[in-house]
Amino acid sequence: MVRKLACGLFLIACGLILLKKTDVGVVLMTNFSDVNVGITYVGTAVAKGAVCLDGSPPAYHLDEGFGAGRNKWLVHHEGGGWCSNMSTCLSRKDTRLGSSKKMEKLLPFIGILSSQQKFNPDFYNWNRVLVRYCDGASFTGDVEEVDPDTNLHFRGSRVFVAVMEELLAMGMKKAQDALLTGCSAGGLTVTLHCDQFRALLPRATKVKCVTDAAYFVNVKDISGARHIETYYSDVVKTHGSANNLPPSCTSKRKPGLCFFQQNMAKLVETPLFVVNSAYDSWQIPNILAPDTADPDGRWHDCKFNLTKCSTDQLKTIQDFRLMFLDALKELGSSSSRGIFIDSCYEHDQITVQETWLSDDSPALDGTVRYLNWQRQLEIGT
Ligand SMILES: *[C@@H]1O[C@H](CO)[C@@H](O)[C@H](O)[C@H]1NC(C)=O
Ligand SMILES: *[C@@H]1O[C@H](CO)[C@@H](O)[C@H](O)[C@H]1NC(C)=O
Ligand SMILES: *[C@@H]1O[C@H](CO)[C@@H](O)[C@H](O)[C@H]1NC(C)=O
Repeated sequence: MVRKLACGLFLIACGLILLKKTDVGVVLMTNFSDVNVGITYVGTAVAKGAVCLDGSPPAYHLDEGFGAGRNKWLVHHEGGGWCSNMSTCLSRKDTRLGSSKKMEKLLPFIGILSSQQKFNPDFYNWNRVLVRYCDGASFTGDVEEVDPDTNLHFRGSRVFVAVMEELLAMGMKKAQDALLTGCSAGGLTVTLHCDQFRALLPRATKVKCVTDAAYFVNVKDISGARHIETYYSDVVKTHGSANNLPPSCTSKRKPGLCFFQQNMAKLVETPLFVVNSAYDSWQIPNILAPDTADPDGRWHDCKFNLTKCSTDQLKTIQDFRLMFLDALKELGSSSSRGIFIDSCYEHDQITVQETWLSDDSPALDGTVRYLNWQRQLEIGT
């Protein structure tokens, strides 16, 4: 994949006009440096074989709730793409996306993770957890054997359970409310594990899920190839994921197809909220115009800077939006599902302060801001 999927600061462009916002981002990062949250390693997971790609223990960051939020939990999954074969998993193994030895020990909590009321009015005082992504398959893999030559561990499914068990023991088992959230590959983790998360919690807990920048659509690339479909099917094969994907989906389709929310999201029984851009700035370079489909590099400048696109390329991108909206219809209309779709050239919105809640964060009809859908999501109201 061309760019690593990650939750963090990205250039934002709305309505296909690039607005440079890096300066704002730097200011925000600086301001948040005093709310960095330390890492916790889940040492007990190792004995269960619930380990990262390199065999190291999984990890998370927890900022404890306070006041009225003391018994409310928000568990967020970070993104970071996938690895689809031995060679890409080997290159990932000794990075922060494959090994807790390489992870930052402190991370800023921003957007939906912020502890400051003015930046995150609905969740600032909840227990907020950032689960580190370290398996390369949205926590779905489970292969018992470990090849001594590569020392690659495909155990994401066990990691998900081990981390949740630790959080339950830390007090989440008494949660009044629990929200499972995630961006990108972490947003896919949310959809694939939402009902499992629900089942781990007591019946009395109100549970909802939010999947951000993860409505990856199954469309042909510009060369006509089914690039993303093949790619996901390789991820599932490499990690031995098939048995750990929801049977409601795998009983009907090839397991690789369950990575597409257009097939999977409607099967989730727990309330699910979808946040995505119709011009997702990861999907366009990696699903619509991946390098494999563009050997001459005609799309290279355009996909990273829309002002450099030709008229034809812009048309292709606008057609992608229509395909995205078609795929979104697959969600159906259930009162337990909600959506927020905007047209910023953006990827990951809930952990980026500018798109989560700021003076000019994406809004519905110019007045209704994120705050409103945060309120709809607010559990217990
Ligand atoms: C960041 O901190 C500086 C200095 O404390 C302040 O002037 C500025 O307004 C802050 N920015 C935001 C977005 O809060
Ligand atoms: C592994 O995956 C990468 C990225 O998708 C691809 O470029 C490469 O050709 C694959 N390697 C093999 C051996 O299949
Ligand atoms: C995008 O390209 C335009 C010129 O076509 C340039 O002015 C602008 O700085 C570029 N934006 C970024 C973010 O590189």
